[in-house]
Amino acid sequence: MTPPDAHDPVLRVRGGGPLEGTIRLSGAKNSVLKLMAASLLADGAVDLSEVPSISDVPVMGAVLEGLGVAVTHDVDAGTCRLEVHDDRTLRPPRDAVTRIRASVACLGPLVARRGAAEFALPGGDRIGARSIDLHLDGLTAMGATVEHGDDGVVVRSQRLHGARITLDFPSVGATENLVMAATLAQGRTVIENAAREPEIADLCRMLVAMGARISGIGTPTIMVEGVERLQGVAWETCPDRIEAGTYLVAAALTGGRVRVERVRPDDLTLPLRKLADAGASVDVEGDTVTVERGVAELRPVDVVTLPYPGFPTDLQPQMMVLLTQADGMSRCTENVFESRFSFVEQLRRMGADIDVDGHHAHLSGPTRLHGATLDGLDVRAGAAGVLAGLVAEGETVVRDVHHIDRGYADFVPRLRALGADVVRDGDGADADG
Ligand code: EPZ
Repeated sequence: MTPPDAHDPVLRVRGGGPLEGTIRLSGAKNSVLKLMAASLLADGAVDLSEVPSISDVPVMGAVLEGLGVAVTHDVDAGTCRLEVHDDRTLRPPRDAVTRIRASVACLGPLVARRGAAEFALPGGDRIGARSIDLHLDGLTAMGATVEHGDDGVVVRSQRLHGARITLDFPSVGATENLVMAATLAQGRTVIENAAREPEIADLCRMLVAMGARISGIGTPTIMVEGVERLQGVAWETCPDRIEAGTYLVAAALTGGRVRVERVRPDDLTLPLRKLADAGASVDVEGDTVTVERGVAELRPVDVVTLPYPGFPTDLQPQMMVLLTQADGMSRCTENVFESRFSFVEQLRRMGADIDVDGHHAHLSGPTRLHGATLDGLDVRAGAAGVLAGLVAEGETVVRDVHHIDRGYADFVPRLRALGADVVRDGDGADADG
């Protein structure tokens, strides 16, 4: 392992007491980036609020600016105004596209609105192959042609037409892209085996507010009747259920009590049930959820990640940390990304007792964790590494903090406000930053 470069910030975490306090949720990373992409479809401005202060937002802004969209992002106000001023560009800036997976959400809107898109393959977390074949197959069914080149794909269509598309897998990104493309296609599109993540339902509701005709929102079968044009809209980004789950797991893990506000409890049914099964007390009151460690010893539980409404893969690493502290054998099965167990090695270095057998990780607990230097790996593994540090003896150093910055707004200040001993070190941000 190469020593951390002096210029790369790291988070230094010391195990300590329980986390206690209140968190008001930010807007969802996996929603706001697609809402931003939808501005490519509109004749008029899209005004977003509750925009989270995460680094993926300005990156998506750069992608869209490269596509002729005027982007006015006020980080402090949590607002972002997007309006197309030049719709001739078909190729977004390669350096921005290759940094985040969500850039692929521009593909469908570009082909639908401008008749073509030239795309470098998207970037994002290294948690699996993450191809875009389902996106491209769906656009082909709607009449587009796809050419694969050395530096990406070129997708063209004079005018997309409606189609009946059955997705091999309920892909979040493919569902979003194809719904957005279908809003301006000629005729009716039916997408079967569509993903049902809450962020997709929210995107559909925003598109309807822009004039789209969509039914079956939130179900596995989404029907879209194409229209001639979509107008601008003002829209509030839905709360980040993965951010909520991360802090609520941390409450159970550290034996504390954390209250999360502006959450949609129905988006977290399984994670909340698994926390309760593990012995945490979970209290739901309107859009507020409070979790505290209800028992001295956490109980083992089995977790199986699946497309929504299954247990979200984006909470798998965080849940694994919790299960290292459960008294007994737990099992975590990862069905969405083939390489999302890379975090296991990090936990083992801290003393966790985990055996991986294909899709299954078998965890034996409770194990006393000791501090280590961890690679950030990806957004969720990075956050989970910090959570592990909160219950480890000694200091845990989490590197590659840029991963965490992609998906968690003000992660360090918020954790410190809950009583965590964590500081950011090495990038000029103040120690509490
Ligand atoms: C979105 O990724 C999220 N990212 C991911 O969150 C999340 O884990 C994932 O959905 C599942 O919920 C964003 O929204 C930006 P998929 P996406 O298409 O759209 C395979 C985080 O931490 N697949 O549902 O890429 C793919 O390889 C991130 O916030 C194909 O094979 O997810 C994967 O194994 C991580 N071909 C599975 O499907 C395709 O054309 C799920 O992918 C598309 C997907």
